[in-house]
Amino acid sequence: MNNIAVIGSGTMGNGIAHVFAQTGFAVNLIDISSDALEKALSTIAKNLDRQIKKERITEEDKNATLQNITTYTDMADGVKDVDLVVEAATENVELKLSIFKQLDTLCKDECILATNTSSISLTKIGAVTNRPSQVIGMHFMNPVPIMKLVEIIRGYKTSDKVTADIMSLSEKLGKVPVEVKDYPGFVANRILMPMINEAIYSLYEGVAGVHEIDTVMKLGMAHPMGPLQLADFIGLDVCLSILNVLYDGFGNSKYAPCPLLVNMVEAGHLGVKSGSGFYSWNHGTKDLVVAEEFKK
Ligand SMILES: NC(=O)c1ccc[n+]([C@@H]2O[C@H](COP(=O)([O-])OP(=O)(O)OC[C@H]3O[C@@H](n4cnc5c(N)ncnc54)[C@H](O)[C@@H]3O)[C@@H](O)[C@H]2O)c1
Repeated sequence: MNNIAVIGSGTMGNGIAHVFAQTGFAVNLIDISSDALEKALSTIAKNLDRQIKKERITEEDKNATLQNITTYTDMADGVKDVDLVVEAATENVELKLSIFKQLDTLCKDECILATNTSSISLTKIGAVTNRPSQVIGMHFMNPVPIMKLVEIIRGYKTSDKVTADIMSLSEKLGKVPVEVKDYPGFVANRILMPMINEAIYSLYEGVAGVHEIDTVMKLGMAHPMGPLQLADFIGLDVCLSILNVLYDGFGNSKYAPCPLLVNMVEAGHLGVKSGSGFYSWNHGTKDLVVAEEFKK
């Protein structure tokens, strides 16, 4: 595999394009928004500058990485000659199914179609194409250039060969791939989201405050950040939608989203991206200030 297309140049797409380009792949970065593409290139440049400052790469490495990326607003142009597509567009089932239907007709027969979805069934996505054996999950973690894990999700029909190729490709990127089967939440979110939900329930039931719950998990379990802070970083709307996927997929009430989470999302308190969640983020992300409504 030499030529890669990344669809969607948001938070994840720009990080995925960054690591492929830095490893020497030619990357076609595609987004419907030219503003998003511009922003992605400037984010990648900024992140590369940070690596230069830490003396991990040189100015020449930065230029070579940026030269490996070409941007497109037309998907047909961007995917026609590639060996692999990594789709990282907005998390929306209808959107992803429509993108994969189009990719199936636009891409070469041998092209592998991967998605970075956090929660949508790989089997369902594979089923809208005529190549379900070549459809696979490459679930990178945020921030992509830093986080080592890639959860590799096999749909019901994903072939052994495609899985092995994507595992070894992920290693080439300097990542650690872990193979998992296609069930709701895969492994990462199936374990993480119930923990976050339980932390929200503990707050909702008045067991402890925001700062106290996060401190227990940070100092008691050596987590780098507490579950409520992490939920704010992920986005409370994203947490809610993944919990709903678990709840619907397993039909088990243990995954039912906490009513407090539902209320916060409906009120537009989505965490860092909206300026307020369990913490207040209007002053930046350095200092932890508990949101006004959760102060005792
Ligand atoms: N943010 C995270 O922490 C995280 C972690 C792991 C996986 N994911 C998954 O990665 C994917 C992307 O998430 P994100 O956080 O980067 O989202 P984002 O909102 O930051 O970016 C999505 C981008 O997709 C673009 N887009 C929408 N429709 C498109 C189309 N038809 N063609 C091309 N581009 C299109 C949007 O313009 C936007 O720039 C989702 O599937 C999400 O579940 C996110």
